[in-house]
Amino acid sequence: MESQAQRVKIAVQKSGRLTEHSIDLLQRCGLKITRSKDSLFCYGENMPVDLLLVRDDDIPQLVADDICDMGICGLNIVEETRLKLAASGTNALFKQVFELDFGHCRLALAGPKGTHFDGPDSLKNKRIATSYTNLLRNYLKLNSISAEIVYFSGAVEITPQLGKADFVCDLVSTGSTLAANGLVEVATLLESEAIIIQTQAPLGDAKQGLVDRLLQRLDGVLQVRESKYIMLHAPRHALLEIQALLPGAEAPTVLPLEGTDDRVAVHAVCRETVFWETLENLKAAGASSLLVLPVEKMLA
Ligand code: PRP
Ligand code: ZN
Repeated sequence: MESQAQRVKIAVQKSGRLTEHSIDLLQRCGLKITRSKDSLFCYGENMPVDLLLVRDDDIPQLVADDICDMGICGLNIVEETRLKLAASGTNALFKQVFELDFGHCRLALAGPKGTHFDGPDSLKNKRIATSYTNLLRNYLKLNSISAEIVYFSGAVEITPQLGKADFVCDLVSTGSTLAANGLVEVATLLESEAIIIQTQAPLGDAKQGLVDRLLQRLDGVLQVRESKYIMLHAPRHALLEIQALLPGAEAPTVLPLEGTDDRVAVHAVCRETVFWETLENLKAAGASSLLVLPVEKMLA
């Protein structure tokens, strides 16, 4: 058995909106894990890859400190940590590898309904509650605004009702938390989604090889997410028109159809969503026997 140091450690959010997606993504890469509800450690059964279930806010630091080799968390936390480390004179020791196209949200400024806001100037000398002090400080600095940053580690949305702040700067996903607290969004500081980061510390050949393989699989999983395999029959003369209608397809495979002179079968991988309208347009262009199949795996 390989030693503990040879195993790749990936930090994943313990419980929250990224947890299920993150684990699902790694399982689609072929990783089999045993996960008990209260365990903070998931052992990879079929690959030397283990998961550490931690608070999302700690993930970039764990990767920067080389305690974990990789981590999956929101860009918002990665950027906040990067600025925090920069403020203390250190370069963040992690690199961003991929965007993962889930966990979309934004870091936004919001104020009580009816708050006057016509640009950053409206924040002058106001109290803004946030747990993203570094991103907020950066935003205020870029806009040359002096305001008071009030740090709260959670429940930021209730601070205006408590008379502790005039504005809040917090993550917004569906917007229901803001609405439930009578707050309205006034500005966006950062658009965010889940990303995977990797330590910059050298991993050694074996471990790096494993990480590269995992990243290649991850790339494949992300690519097939929207992808569909389309099969159809068409008159040869309509091929150009049909090809132009296939969303995000590379050169399709064209095969003659037995027993006909001018009809061909067309097979193509479409990398973008195939809508009903797409199929209707293909049919109008002369296609028939249309089939759309999910793509499970892809390796370029
Ligand atoms: C964020 C944020 C809000 C909520 C907004 O917390 O602090 O509470 O999500 O989501 P909504 O717009 O869909 O209502 P998060 O889930 O990131 O929890 P955490 O701060 O404990 O990590
Ligand atoms: Zn968090």
